[in-house]
Amino acid sequence: MADEQNTTKTKKKWWIIPAVLGALIVIYIIAQVTGRGITADTLDGKFVQVLENNNCLACHMENPASVWYEGLPIAKTMIAEDKANAYKFIDLEKVIAQVNAGEPVSAPDVAKLEMSTRNNSMPVVSYTLVHPGTSLNSEEQAIVFEWVTAQRTAQVTAFSEQYGMNLSGEALEKAIAEPVMVLPEPGYGVDMDMAMLGLDVYHDTRLSGDNTLACASCHQLSHAGQDNSPHARGITGSLGGVSAPTVYNAVFNVEQFWDGRAADLKAQAAGPPTNPIEMGSETWEDIADRLKEDPDMVKRFKDVFGDREISEDTITEAIAEFEKLLITPNSPFDKYLMGDESAISADAAKGYELFKKYYCATCHVGAAMGGQSFESLGTTTDVMQYFEERGDGIGDGDAGRVAHTGVETDRYKFKVPTLRNIEQTWPYFHDGSKLSLQEAVRTMFKYQTDHQNPTDAEVNQIVEFLKTLNGENEYMSYDFYPSNNIYPEY
Ligand code: HEC
Ligand code: HEC
Ligand code: HEC
Repeated sequence: MADEQNTTKTKKKWWIIPAVLGALIVIYIIAQVTGRGITADTLDGKFVQVLENNNCLACHMENPASVWYEGLPIAKTMIAEDKANAYKFIDLEKVIAQVNAGEPVSAPDVAKLEMSTRNNSMPVVSYTLVHPGTSLNSEEQAIVFEWVTAQRTAQVTAFSEQYGMNLSGEALEKAIAEPVMVLPEPGYGVDMDMAMLGLDVYHDTRLSGDNTLACASCHQLSHAGQDNSPHARGITGSLGGVSAPTVYNAVFNVEQFWDGRAADLKAQAAGPPTNPIEMGSETWEDIADRLKEDPDMVKRFKDVFGDREISEDTITEAIAEFEKLLITPNSPFDKYLMGDESAISADAAKGYELFKKYYCATCHVGAAMGGQSFESLGTTTDVMQYFEERGDGIGDGDAGRVAHTGVETDRYKFKVPTLRNIEQTWPYFHDGSKLSLQEAVRTMFKYQTDHQNPTDAEVNQIVEFLKTLNGENEYMSYDFYPSNNIYPEY
């Protein structure tokens, strides 16, 4: 009898605990969802609210606040990993600060936000499970897309004006809708007298300590603006730690060098001449003195610079002006982007779709398809595997952006290289370790995407697409032979 009573008691009350739990969950969800009304009246303000309401900063900032369940054993490692990865992909605290200050957000960050919203992939599932309601609803998605369009419109319009492109109508719409855009023609706003002086100085071996090397020795204009070598060879024959990037389209880089240590082309040109393992001149005064011995040079500098005499300042300015002419438009892909469907093969067109689908076009963005940001090598696979596979240890050139900024999270971040003329700029990566485009593309899939084992067909289609990026420039047939012929294969 007593037993029976007990059973009925338990039977009657079995639902209490789940009911209380259920009620709590419902209250929690309602609290989460109703807390996210969009109240701002500007598009920028609404966009920031979307990020804040969905707790994006729980992971995407340098030192995110802790959450209560972080104390639990398994959660702890998972959350730490998520936070470290999230910050590697995008710093949303910086994005919010830029938006609040009315500053433009970088093209890669805009492209990344567009992709994560389109695929509805953020926040990561493990987080939404614990924080119901933190996943963009359709109103919030619409706000992000509208914001992406506004950002791109501003960027594309400014770019089009800066380079005299006068994009309008369908061409402008396309440039805003796509993460990449056509290259402008060279020459707009360039001082041609200064540029022609720069062309000659660029090929002048008197910039080097022993009169053997010019800029063109390592950035041969008829060799896609670089030297097809894994490591550049300086005057003493010593090798630098990194591969020489191309000078073609370098004018579009946010900063110069793999680590961004030069702000622009003029600042960049000041480096190599007095670098002991590159051109090895003692001082810029020595270089200026050598050029001043040449009456023709003195006259030409005077014609261009007036009272400003031959010096580091005028030499580097002339070189930088010349480099503005090194834009390579009219590639088959540009023609395709302008509406000529037959300009590239069906495989190449599929390759471009894959290039967007697999997030390649979140880092390789804009007209140069690169040069707009510094990104971690190894966002999805540990970079240490990359060095292990390469097999010769981590060298001087491998540190990446930390060498310039001193910020530890910048270690192994490199400037995203341009993909223009990529078929000709082998070997690939900062260390010149990959000879073929196939290898380079496979490496990117493995280290930078979630799709780590692409099929041969996917790789080949992307390679076909990359081969459509060869553009035109009158200097591509401009041969130059260093006097000591360091590179006999030329
Ligand atoms: C719990 C941590 C966490 C939260 C919260 C979170 N993310 Fe992420 N996010 C990640 C991780 C981890 C990655 C790395 C890529 C991956 O794992 O898919 C990432 C990658 C990204 C990327 C890079 C592009 C991509 O999809 O790979 C963007 C953009 C992004 N997040 C935006 C957001 C936005 C917007 C929010 C808020 C709505 C958000 N994230 C909330 C962890 C988080
Ligand atoms: C000995 C070979 C060598 C010589 C000579 C040389 N460079 Fe370079 N150049 C390199 C290497 C290597 C790098 C990459 C270095 C780095 O990022 O740390 C580079 C980088 C650059 C970049 C940056 C491109 C980018 O995408 O970041 C430009 C522009 C450039 N050089 C122009 C010049 C000019 C102009 C001169 C002559 C004043 C010159 N170089 C002389 C080897 C050379
Ligand atoms: C997260 C940003 C990011 C993504 C996504 C990305 N890349 Fe890259 N890509 C880079 C960086 C950074 C480098 C330079 C790495 C180095 O030199 O160590 C690079 C280098 C390359 C190179 C070699 C360029 C050269 O001149 O050396 C190719 C080719 C390339 N990427 C293609 C792709 C393709 C194809 C995809 C998509 C499957 C892709 N990338 C996805 C950032 C990215």
